Amino acid sequence: MKFNVNLKAGISIEIVFEGENKDNRVLTYAKDKDLFSGKLGEVYSYLPFDGDKQIFVGLGKKEELKEDEVREVFFKLVKVLLTNKEYEAQVEVPSIEHVDKNTFVKALVEGSLHATYRFDKYKTDKKELPEITINILTNKDISEDIKEAEAVIEGIFFARDLVNERAEYLYPETLADIAKSELSPLGVEVDVYDEKQCEELGLKGLLAVGRASERKPRFIVMKYLNNKNDNEVIGLVGKGVTYDTGGYSIKPTANSMDIMHCDMGGAGTVLGTMKLIATRKIKKNVIAVVGACENMVSGNSYKPGDIIPTLSGKTVEVLNTDAEGRITLADSVYYVTNELKVNKVIDLATLTGACLVALGEVYTGAVTNNQEFYNELSQAAKSAGERVWQMPADDSFRKLNKSSVADIKNTGGRLGGTITAGLFIEYFVANNVPWIHLDIAGTAYLSKPEKYLPKGATGIHVKTLYNLLNK
Ligand code: BES
Ligand code: MG
Ligand code: ZN
Repeated sequence: MKFNVNLKAGISIEIVFEGENKDNRVLTYAKDKDLFSGKLGEVYSYLPFDGDKQIFVGLGKKEELKEDEVREVFFKLVKVLLTNKEYEAQVEVPSIEHVDKNTFVKALVEGSLHATYRFDKYKTDKKELPEITINILTNKDISEDIKEAEAVIEGIFFARDLVNERAEYLYPETLADIAKSELSPLGVEVDVYDEKQCEELGLKGLLAVGRASERKPRFIVMKYLNNKNDNEVIGLVGKGVTYDTGGYSIKPTANSMDIMHCDMGGAGTVLGTMKLIATRKIKKNVIAVVGACENMVSGNSYKPGDIIPTLSGKTVEVLNTDAEGRITLADSVYYVTNELKVNKVIDLATLTGACLVALGEVYTGAVTNNQEFYNELSQAAKSAGERVWQMPADDSFRKLNKSSVADIKNTGGRLGGTITAGLFIEYFVANNVPWIHLDIAGTAYLSKPEKYLPKGATGIHVKTLYNLLNK
C-alpha cells in the first residue's frame, strides 16, 4: 500500500460527521433516502459508470471521535475499496479540535494497513493483494507521520507472523535465529544462550520446563541501548513457550492444544516492539529477554510433584506441568532485574486460561507492584486502542501460592488463577523493581476477528509498548 501527500487522484473519500451539513448532491440524496447519516463506521459508495465516484464515510459525532475509531473506520474503508476494485483514493484530513491532524493521519495509515494483513504462506494458490494508493490531502507536514505508522504496522505484522507460525518451523533455536537476523541489522545486540550456556547461567526453571523436548531451550537477550545520557533501562520479558502440550498434566486436545504454537505470544510482542523501536531509533535504553522452550512429554520430562530450583535460588513445587510459563518467566524476570539491573520491567505472557474466562478475548489482564508505572502503561494502551484491565492483587491471593515443601508452588488453584499466576512472577522480581505483568492469553490469538484485528495472532501491545517507550 502506498500513501502520497497532496496528490489529487483517485476516487474521492468524503468524511462526514453525524449532523454535519455538506454541500454535496449525492450526500443529500443518500441522507434523504436514509441510506447514510454519518454514524461512526457507516460507508456509502457512489460509483457511477462515468462521472465522479465518491465514497462517504461516517465518523460519528465530531466531538466524540476517538483515535482508535479512525483506525477502525479506515480498516473498513480499505476493505470496501478492495471489494469494489478501486485501487486509488484521495481523502482530506478533517479539522477536529481534540484529535490533531498528525494523530489522525497516523491512525488513518495504521487502520488502512491493518486491512492488508495476510498469513497465507502455506496456501498454494494465494492471490496477490492489489496495490492500493491513498492520497492524503492536508495543509500539515505529515510525511514523518506516515513513516512512523508504517513502522508501527511492520512491528505488529512481524509479531503476528511469529505467533501465527507453526511450532514445526518455529522453535527455540529458530526463534533465536530470527531475533538475530531481524534485529541485529537494526543495531540491537542479540545474545543467544544455548542449553549448555543456560546451565552456566543457572536458568534451572527454564531448563526443567524445556528438558523433555528434542528442540532445546534458548535464552535470548536483546539489548537496545540508544541513550547514554539516560541511566534508565527498561526491561521487557516475553513468554517464549514455542509449543505447550501441558506436559504430563497434558491438555485435552478438545481444549485447543492445536493453537498452542501461540504460547510464545509474549515473545512475539517483545520482538515486534524491539524491531519497531530500533527502526524508529528512539532515544531510550531497552533490554528484552525471552526464555524459549517447548513444553513436551517424554521419559525425561519434569513431572507433577517435582520440586525444582530456579535461577533466583528459590524452589518451586510443580503441582501442574501445564503451569509452565510462570516457571520460565521466573528465571527471565529474575535475570533482567537482578543480573541486568533494569530499572523497570514489563512481562507479557499467554499465561492463563483463567484470563480468558475473566476478560474474554477483549481485555489483557494486568498485575502490578507499582500503581504509578501501571497508570503510565494504561494511558499508552488507551491511545493505542489496546484494552488492558488491572486485576486486584494482595496478600489474600499471595498466600494461595504458598507451598508446604518448597518456597512457592506453581499453581494457586483455579480461583483467581490469573492473579495468582501474576503474583508467582512478582515473587521473582528482584530489588523491588517496578513491574507490570500482562496476561495476553485472551488477546494475543483470537478465535474470530475483532475490529481491525484478524483471527489468529494479533500482535497485541506492540503499539502500547511503543507509546510507552517513545514518550
Ligand atoms: N499456555 C497456557 C495458557 C493459555 C490458555 C494460553 C489459552 C492461550 C490460550 C498456560 O501455560 C496454561 O496452560 N495455563 C494453565 C495454568 C493452570 C494449570 C494453573 C491454565 O490456564 O489452564
Ligand atoms: Mg501450560
Ligand atoms: Zn503455556
